[in-house]
Amino acid sequence: MTKSSASRGGTAAPARRETFSSRRLFILSAIGSAVGLGNIWRFPYVAYENGGGAFLIPYLVALLCAGIPLLFLDYSIGHRFRGSAPLAYRRLHRAAEPIGWWQVLICFVIAVYYAAIIAWAAMYAWFSITQAWGDDAEGFFFNNYLHTADQAGLSFDFVSSVFFPMLAVWIVTIVIMVAGVNKGISRANAVILPLLVVMFVILVVQSLFLDGAMEGLNAFFTPNWDSLQNPGVWAAAFGHIFFSLSVAFGIMVTYSSYLKRKTDLTGSGMVVAFANSGFEILAGIGVFAALGFMSVASGQAVDEVASGGIGLAFVAFPTIVSEAPFGAVLGVLFFGSLVFAGLTSLISILEVIVAAFQDKLGWSRKAATLVVTIPIALISLILFPTTTGIHLLDTSDAFVNQFGILACALVTVIVVSAGLGSLPRLQKHLNRTSTVKMGAGWRILVGGIVPVALGYMLINEIQTKSSEQYSGYPAWFNGVFGWGMAGALIVGAVLLSLIPWGEKSKLKDAEYEEFNAAEELDGDVDNNREDVKA
Ligand code: ALA
Repeated sequence: MTKSSASRGGTAAPARRETFSSRRLFILSAIGSAVGLGNIWRFPYVAYENGGGAFLIPYLVALLCAGIPLLFLDYSIGHRFRGSAPLAYRRLHRAAEPIGWWQVLICFVIAVYYAAIIAWAAMYAWFSITQAWGDDAEGFFFNNYLHTADQAGLSFDFVSSVFFPMLAVWIVTIVIMVAGVNKGISRANAVILPLLVVMFVILVVQSLFLDGAMEGLNAFFTPNWDSLQNPGVWAAAFGHIFFSLSVAFGIMVTYSSYLKRKTDLTGSGMVVAFANSGFEILAGIGVFAALGFMSVASGQAVDEVASGGIGLAFVAFPTIVSEAPFGAVLGVLFFGSLVFAGLTSLISILEVIVAAFQDKLGWSRKAATLVVTIPIALISLILFPTTTGIHLLDTSDAFVNQFGILACALVTVIVVSAGLGSLPRLQKHLNRTSTVKMGAGWRILVGGIVPVALGYMLINEIQTKSSEQYSGYPAWFNGVFGWGMAGALIVGAVLLSLIPWGEKSKLKDAEYEEFNAAEELDGDVDNNREDVKA
């Protein structure tokens, strides 16, 4: 079995599923996926908006009680059922397939806007050298660079300085992905990730030497107990941890399906989770140290020096670049890190979609990559390098990312635990090969505590988001691109799951039979072979 499932590289016979050639490459790729814009761009502004220091406590609770347990859930489903999200959930139970497609569609929405932020960052690495923003970083970002329209809407006024870097991002990403799991994804991660770590550590050390850095760190590490009573802060922490760890939207299901049968799942997961959070907290330290510098320079409090929101990185950081010693170096390191971190995550987000179509329609790697990614790139290039792109990005991020991932995570844990009663079996699967064993505590967290916590936060999110106009955008805009989009993903997921698994699909492939036979020898007998019932 081990031999037959071994990787044969990107030119392998199309019928065989590629596997990561080593556990090290899987861990690197999983960290590459987890460490992304979420860590460097999103975490500091979400923390800033949710009370700075106050955010760390919900963040750590969310990591330990939901993020890591759900990461293991994703691993167990992807690894045991050996498929992209729709195939893995379909093999778990026929009725669970729409969950997989829901995750695929969430990835679609994230991918189309994610590429835009990577493109902004690439331009800003260059602008850091020329300090193109002069002394008005905010005005430059919204007016001179993005040419932001006054009203949120849908315009097709293209902004070439966003369009061309986005085009480059898409070309690089597609070239990496066409090469496959080993020759493309693993190699890209093996090169980019070490580079990113070196750049980022230099950046953080440099920030710590800025005047006022300690003021910023005090703001970051001082808990604000009052805001712990605000459910919105908790929802932001849980939503963020899922996005940041790449759990509950298909990525880790897909990546773990490329792992060999005998792999330490939970040990690998621990490394990935702690590396991701370590990186994220490091990013918080770097950004808050820099905010402390701004605070001392401007005489304002740390929580007043910058406007929060998606512009934090692109407004606050340039100001620091202009004023700090060796600011250009700081800027190139910061925005270069964003580009590298973003690229490896964008690849993993797209892999969820590519793998799903490869499995369902039996397409080859190359065909699936091109047929899937080129239209996504076109949609992204039509909607985001425009004068209204940032509004669309803001609304999609808030509704589909924070709200949609929470909703999808909630439905997933309810279906897998109470609905299908699959947790004991998945727990056994995790424990069969792993060093860190999961006890009843894991089942209680995934099947009990997480659904209750997510349910509470989701109700609260629905109330908040429906009682006020998100970001002050017109009602129709949030209705269509916020609520409408979040709802359309669910409808789309059900429709996609109705497409039949044809002869060419991977539902009944021989490799899965071999895997099952080997698992049965190890004591895992599946009495509910959903794929056989198809
Ligand atoms: N996990 C990825 C990020 O943090 C998606 O950006």
